[in-house]
Amino acid sequence: MIEADQLTQRPVRREPRANPFERGAELGTAVGDLTAFMMTYKFGLDEVLTKIGILREEFTFTHDFNPIEHVKSRLKSPGSIAEKVLRKGYGPEPASIREHLLDIAGVRITCSFISDVYSVADMLTRQPDVKVLRTRDYIRHPKPNGYQSLHLILEIPVFLSDRVELVPVEVQIRTAAMDFWAGLEHKIHYKYRGDIPAGLVEELHEAATVAGNLDKKMERLRGELGQH
Ligand code: GTP
Ligand code: MG
Repeated sequence: MIEADQLTQRPVRREPRANPFERGAELGTAVGDLTAFMMTYKFGLDEVLTKIGILREEFTFTHDFNPIEHVKSRLKSPGSIAEKVLRKGYGPEPASIREHLLDIAGVRITCSFISDVYSVADMLTRQPDVKVLRTRDYIRHPKPNGYQSLHLILEIPVFLSDRVELVPVEVQIRTAAMDFWAGLEHKIHYKYRGDIPAGLVEELHEAATVAGNLDKKMERLRGELGQH
């Protein structure tokens, strides 16, 4: 048992006193660096969103249908960037993060029909200032859990005052049915921390097949409208 006088006699540990001005300056530099780092991704995202916005408006003005139903975007938070860097074992320096994390800027586009997914992807990737760094077609090749979506990593030039930065932006394009499925699967995955019970895994897979069949049927029915 600790006696009261022992407590009072304990030497008090003091942190070395940091000069608050130096600490403030260091922190200011770190925050400034982070802001500059994130800013280029925000601009890359803005560029892609402008391209998508133009396509959407053009379709509204000149066609009687629009392949783009919904657009959502996000910048990965510094906390999530740090978490992914640690999880994947990448170096923590900005150059390493830039090289390895290609989804700091992300856009998700939902379309009504599968063929629209591919035509939106074509409309974006054939633009001369867009370079495709990576394509993963989980529609033609669904993931084992049933996940379907078309993933593109696009590289977009961002023109700054003194330089051009080439910024990667992840674009996920999928149908509303695929999006509905992915949203629920994500929540279930989160709830069970990735360890989903076998029965649920099977049910999710079945649901993905049902969603895929609905998409195929809707595509066939759409043929009746001649909207291709
Ligand atoms: P991340 O490290 O998670 O970014 O994956 P990755 O770099 O291997 O790329 P991938 O193309 O597999 O996945 C990128 C993103 O797609 C994920 O961050 C999710 O947003 C989405 N995604 C991929 N697989 C699944 C899945 O099984 N379920 C759901 N709901 N979303 C998925
Ligand atoms: Mg990701």
